Formats: sequence, C-alpha cells, structure tokens
Amino acid sequence: MNKYLFFVGICFLIFVLSSNSFDFTGDPYLPAAPFDYETELFPDHLLVSPWGENDSTAFDHITNDGATLGRVLFFDELLSANDDMSCATCHRQELSFSDDVPFSEGANNNTFRNSMKLNDLAWSSHAAFFWDISQPDLRTAIKLPLADPNEIGASDINVVINKMNATSYYPNLFYQAFGTSLITDSLIVEALLQFIGSMTTFESKFDKSHDIFSGVTLSLEENRGRTIFEANCELCHTDGNSFNQRFNFVHNNGLVEDSTDMGVGMLDSTLFFLFKPPSLRNIELSAPFMHDGRFATLEEVIDHYAEGAINNDWNSVPPGGFGYSVQERADLLAFLKTLTDYTLVTHEKWSDPFVPPTSNDPSQVDVSDLSLFPNPTADVLQVSFDNRQNLMTYVQIFDAGGRLVKKSSGHRSLISLNVGHLPTGNYVATITQEDANKSASFVIAR
Ligand code: HEC
Ligand code: HEC
Repeated sequence: MNKYLFFVGICFLIFVLSSNSFDFTGDPYLPAAPFDYETELFPDHLLVSPWGENDSTAFDHITNDGATLGRVLFFDELLSANDDMSCATCHRQELSFSDDVPFSEGANNNTFRNSMKLNDLAWSSHAAFFWDISQPDLRTAIKLPLADPNEIGASDINVVINKMNATSYYPNLFYQAFGTSLITDSLIVEALLQFIGSMTTFESKFDKSHDIFSGVTLSLEENRGRTIFEANCELCHTDGNSFNQRFNFVHNNGLVEDSTDMGVGMLDSTLFFLFKPPSLRNIELSAPFMHDGRFATLEEVIDHYAEGAINNDWNSVPPGGFGYSVQERADLLAFLKTLTDYTLVTHEKWSDPFVPPTSNDPSQVDVSDLSLFPNPTADVLQVSFDNRQNLMTYVQIFDAGGRLVKKSSGHRSLISLNVGHLPTGNYVATITQEDANKSASFVIAR
C-alpha cells in the first residue's frame, strides 16, 4: 500500500472514531417483573387525621408498568433537544428529587428559581405547583419542563417521539403500560405522572412512630421540636401529620425581599412576595432552601425563623423572629429530621435505570447492600437493604456477647429499630431474607 493511501486511511479512521455516529444511549436495565409501585397506601394516621382525610384514591391511577415507563422517561436524556438532559439532571434521587445548587444549570441559562423536591406531590394540593403556584395541575407542571427550551427543550415533541420510536425499548414499554405502542405526548405525561406520584415518604421516622408495631418512638428532643413546630410553623406548613401543601395558599415568611423575584406578585400585583410553602417531608435532603436557595443549611433556615424575619404581610412569623434559644433550635432541627424517608432516596425502583443495578437478577434474594445508619446511633437505627421484591425481611440485633437483644421485620427496604433502651457498646445487626443473610456491625453511643 502506498504511503499516501495509508495516510488517507488513518485520517478516515480517526474521523469515524471521533464522529458522533458511534454515540448511543444504552437500553435501560429493568427487572424481569416490574417493581411494585401500585400498592402505595396511605398509612392510617395520614388517611384519617383530625384535620380531615387525605384523598384515599390519590394513588389509584398508578400501575407497575406505567410507573416503570415513567421511570425510564424521567431519567432518559433522549427526551431532550440535545440528548444531554433529563428531568433527573435537576431532580436527583439522592436529594429527594431536588438539586444541590441555588439555581440549576439549564440548557442555556441557570434556572430562575431553586429546583423543587418531587416527593409527595400526588397527595399534596392538586392545584398549586411551582414556587408561585402558577401551575394548577400536576400534568401541566410535568408537561412544561418537557417543552421549556431551557429545560428538556423538546420544543417539537414529534422530533422526540421519532427518536423514541427508533429505540429498542420505548414501543414495547408503551405497549406494556398502555396497551398501545403509539407514543403520544399525553401518554408520556401520564407515565411521568405515575412515576412521580409513587414518590412518597411514608417510611419516615415520624410516620413509623405512629405504627405501634414498629417500636419506633420520637426522642424527647424530637418531641419538644414537634411542640414548637405545632405552635409556630403548622399554620403555613399544614397540619402535624401531612407537612405537605394541601391547600393552594401562598405566604410571606419574612425573608429579606429580592426585587428580581416577587413570587405570585409576578402574576398578580396584589400578591407581592408570596410563595408556596413546599412540603417539609424529606426537607433534610433538599438543601439549599427557599425559592432562591438562599440558605445553605437547615440550621440557617431555623436561624431565619428564630431571629432573621423582617416585617411581612400578616406577621405570622413575627418581625425579628420567634427568638428561639440554642436548645429550641436544636429541638426543631431534630424534629424536622424525623420527616426523612431514606427508602425513596435509595431504592432501585426510583433510581436511574440506565445505570446497571448492583444485582440485576430479580429472582435472586439479595441482601448484599445492607447499610446501617446513623452509625454510631443514640436511639434509632435505620437498617436499609435491597428489597426489590418486597420480601419479608427479618432483622436481629446481637450484643457484643452474641445475645439476641432485639428483633423486627418488614416488607420494605428500610426497617427502623428503636435501640434507645439498649446500653452503649458494639452490636451486630443481621438481616435474613428466605435463606440469605448478611450482618454488619454498629455502635450505640450517647
Ligand atoms: C434545568 C433544570 C430542570 C429540569 C431539567 C427539570 N426541572 Fe422540574 N423544576 C425545576 C425548577 C427550577 C422548578 C421550580 C420552578 C419555578 O417555581 O419556577 C421545578 C419544578 C418542578 C415541579 C413542581 C414541583 C412543586 O412542588 O410544585 C415539577 C412537578 C417538576 N419540576 C417536574 C419536572 C419534570 C417531570 C421534568 C422532566 C420532564 C423536570 N421537572 C425537569 C428545574 C428543572
Ligand atoms: C407565614 C407562613 C409560614 C410560617 C409561619 C412558617 N413558614 Fe416555613 N415557609 C413558608 C414559605 C412561604 C416558604 C417558602 C418561602 C420562599 O421560598 O420564598 C417557607 C419555606 C420553608 C422552608 C424551606 C423549604 C424549601 O424547600 O426550601 C423550611 C425548611 C421551612 N419553611 C420551615 C419552617 C419552620 C421550621 C417554621 C416554624 C419555625 C416555619 N417554616 C414557619 C411559610 C411559612
């Protein structure tokens, strides 16, 4: 071969390797039998509460196949104009589907407001989405980012549908979910609605403490924080069991105003500086806080309510704040942390399906990803593990002398145990699913 042809050949090879023609998004990794999304149920204390019943039909529209499709859509960058962004870019599972920066990076500019958590939206007010409650319906709140050129940017949904039709997975997933492989924008929204609707936080310590069989109780500090919350915060953040926006009210909580963002005032000039109070469920995980992400930590939020509030509409937060002591601030913080549900932020059924799962054989009992937290712990131990089939799992706690000192069981992937009565020292937790078991050690310290 002459040298010239060899040179041309190399150039061609470099061109082919560097061009995008080899770029492809892999297929999602999905379990052979879908995860369970449809048996989502309100715990009793939420369904019937002294403040009125929650809508027991809130989860009825969810099917396992519909939510599975929604999961794939939520994480799929193919839906964006440039194949580089998905809902999960700004709504990350480990942050209860929010982002960790004040403003997220959009396709062209940073977003105007702080990205919001997506937990518990199916049963929150059905008429108040976004910080300025401009979206009266969860369907439009889902549809807007799909078309927003600074977000998913699929301004021409038909281009996206063509890309989806060309994949090996979408036609089949639509068929499974809706009995038709004809992809439409309203079915895309419907599937996303089912997936987002399944994101609840009913495994939080607070919720578990209402289940007498769980053995979980709030500590003295947490209970003191709850009392302060009921006295000062509940008015806007709704009743002590839901912590969720159930009415489309907007408020001013005494933040120092920023003239670039007037909240609902941008739509109605009589409502300057009013904003939606977001759900406080999983609030521990969604820093930074407020519509502009101005507070980096929950401590800063509590300092605002304690001493930083300025004059506001009805002064429900007194100007100058509630004047909490150091102890009261710690109590409130401890209480807010009882609203965290680690299952939602760790379970594979809400995770990115384009990342290979640690174990993708659903027929196999797998107890490999056991984790114990906090470790050391003072009063409650959270035991989290893989439980894609919702198998009955038993937890046993042994002390340093090998004596069984506590046991519990459950069907979810997180079991909370009250160890507050056990002496300080080293312990071992063993979980058992069918014949598989796994142990890990932890420390009780006070
Ligand atoms: C570039 C970042 C970004 C992307 C991508 C994005 N979002 Fe958002 N999302 C936000 C921001 C910022 C807000 C708050 C908007 C506001 O209040 O003005 C928000 C708010 C929401 C809300 C309202 C929540 C509430 O409590 O009111 C929903 C629902 C939502 N997004 C769903 C989605 C879905 C579904 C997708 C994918 C189709 C998506 N988002 C993609 C940044 C993003
Ligand atoms: C007058 C009504 C009102 C009262 C009382 C109130 N809040 Fe708020 N809260 C709001 C509003 C409105 C927002 C959103 C404000 C914004 O971003 O502009 C908010 C935001 C928050 C946030 C941040 C949410 C997020 O996702 O960024 C936390 C945490 C919070 N409040 C906790 C509390 C606590 C704790 C108390 C009691 C000490 C309390 N609130 C009392 C109305 C209130």
